[in-house]
Amino acid sequence: MAFPLWITNYKAYEQARGAHAVGLSVLHAALAEELQLPVTVAVSALDLHRVATAVPGMPLCVQHLDPTPAPLSSSVGCIAAPLAREAGATYALLNHAAHRIEDRHTLAETIKEAQESEIITIVCAATVAEVAALQALGTDAIAYEPPELIGSNQTSVSRAQPEVVRAAVIAAAGVPLLIGAGVATAEDVRIGMQLGCSGFLVASAIVKAPDPAAALRTLLTAMKNATD
Ligand code: G3P
Repeated sequence: MAFPLWITNYKAYEQARGAHAVGLSVLHAALAEELQLPVTVAVSALDLHRVATAVPGMPLCVQHLDPTPAPLSSSVGCIAAPLAREAGATYALLNHAAHRIEDRHTLAETIKEAQESEIITIVCAATVAEVAALQALGTDAIAYEPPELIGSNQTSVSRAQPEVVRAAVIAAAGVPLLIGAGVATAEDVRIGMQLGCSGFLVASAIVKAPDPAAALRTLLTAMKNATD
């Protein structure tokens, strides 16, 4: 897993699903290549195959996984890790604030099953206490996202909560910590990198931008400059 990692979460935004998911992913792949940065996009399982076909070289992230039922072959409708892998997922986002996996045992099992399918896991946490609890589950990375700042166009996690982010980095105890929620400017990225973050999980600042290419270029350039 390479860092700092940039993840644009498409959620189910109209601008980022179906055919739009393809266009936005082509854009991400081109900028990742040009700037030589690890970049992925978190897409709905329903769009995974379509996007993987359009950008075959790009590592993709599935937005959620379910525990794998046994036997998998007769299951119906599950987003099981082996199926996500076959459809093109390299990463999986788990426990996002909008799709929580409340039961810790289920979450730990889902992480394990993903890793057995060679999927890298990024588990979301809403508090520093949750970061501390999740780091013990064997996930490859954690994303700290305070729910109250998700979608904010006023402030970002890095500007509003620098001390909390610093505490989250410590609580992660060596597990790489990404941040997200309201991240929208080069300054948000610069501060996050300075606080010790290993990447960013961003949605609206890219997906809803009037010019997503310009927005992505600005934020990725800030991430790259912070690593030089
Ligand atoms: O997963 C990313 C997301 O929850 C943050 O959303 O719109 O605040 O960048 P946004």
